[in-house]
Amino acid sequence: MKDASANADAKRLAGETAAELVKSGMVVGLGTGSTVAWTIKRLGVRVKEESLQFLGVPTSFQAENLAIASGITLTTLNVHPALDLAIDGADQVDSSLFVIKGGGAAHTREKVVACSAQRFVIVADESKYVEKLTGPVPVEVLPFAAKLVERRLKALGGVPVLRQGLRKDGPVITDNGNFVMDVDFGAIEEPEALAARLCGIPGIVEHGIFDNLDELYLTRAGGVEIIKRRV
Ligand code: A5P
Repeated sequence: MKDASANADAKRLAGETAAELVKSGMVVGLGTGSTVAWTIKRLGVRVKEESLQFLGVPTSFQAENLAIASGITLTTLNVHPALDLAIDGADQVDSSLFVIKGGGAAHTREKVVACSAQRFVIVADESKYVEKLTGPVPVEVLPFAAKLVERRLKALGGVPVLRQGLRKDGPVITDNGNFVMDVDFGAIEEPEALAARLCGIPGIVEHGIFDNLDELYLTRAGGVEIIKRRV
């Protein structure tokens, strides 16, 4: 995946640094997006140069294709339901380590994979780190339920926008065959409460608020800072 963004070097540093967490024998969730793509590529190099032996569980077709191209052996949650580690990117992470994901429409599988892992690590550049989450929150929606979901999201105070394809006419269709709505809630004061309300709407397959991050690998001032969840 080509990343020409201003933060490409910072993404690369965070992504490649976190690749060192993977040890032989592990089963590892492989996230989606331009930052964790560096992790996957670095893991491919480690497989070749260090004879690293591990199994990857991809969170999307993007991650799957990149992992295959990088020479990583893949497995599924059906075969390996308990992962040692999951590494992924994020759209926003706040100072309490609440996360918004789904900018690439992959958050449903990403959440399933992250919740299957003993340790969940996010890799990000500093632009993602915020005091408070401000969204928008991506929500994967069953197409059949789109109108009901839209009404309920508005009733919660959100402004939902059906995500449109870039080089495809009409809405984005996820890897699971669903729609995505990006919902603006303004500044999110209570991410856990909002997450619970979103879970209560019939037809929402999954929302992009994550509350299970263990460690953030954040590129800052030319280095990688590791911010751990306070216990
Ligand atoms: C995929 O749906 C998202 O959750 C990504 O993990 C996130 O958007 C990653 O962003 P970057 O491309 O900036 O790493």
